[in-house]
Amino acid sequence: MPTVSMKVNGKPVSGEVEGRTLLVQFLRESLGLTGTHVGCDTSQCGACVVHVDGESVKACSVFALGCEGAEVATIEGMAEPDGTLSPLQQAFQDHHGLQCGFCTPGMVMSAADLLAKNANPTEGEIRDWLEGDICRCTGYHNIVKAIQAAAATQAGRAHAAE
Ligand code: FES
Ligand code: FES
Repeated sequence: MPTVSMKVNGKPVSGEVEGRTLLVQFLRESLGLTGTHVGCDTSQCGACVVHVDGESVKACSVFALGCEGAEVATIEGMAEPDGTLSPLQQAFQDHHGLQCGFCTPGMVMSAADLLAKNANPTEGEIRDWLEGDICRCTGYHNIVKAIQAAAATQAGRAHAAE
């Protein structure tokens, strides 16, 4: 079987995969990074969103071999090494942006990409961005509030640093 190598959350990793092995399978089954969820396996629900070379990607829609040499970021890499949540994760907690939590890793990774591209998104822009992320608990209002709060926190920090 071919070997694939990439960096995941800043750490070099490699493993044998089949040509058909999806990135999400490699992350979960080979690396044990089960924070990335599988809700549909057909590129519809967004539970599997990770970042590949800085872009949010549905990890069930790309082959592991296609990520050779890539920088991959998963939900496990969002918090600080001491467990302190990222501002975005903290905002999800503070604003009740999760219920069962199944969609949450994908929501957080999608939202992180949005805020990296657009530091001050409108409610409409957030809702449009999350079109490919499904919450089976239908907690969208609080997810949007959490992302707005994280954007405000981010803006406050940037302002304070000026
Ligand atoms: S598991 Fe990838 S989009 Fe649903
Ligand atoms: S919190 Fe349950 S699926 Fe979104």
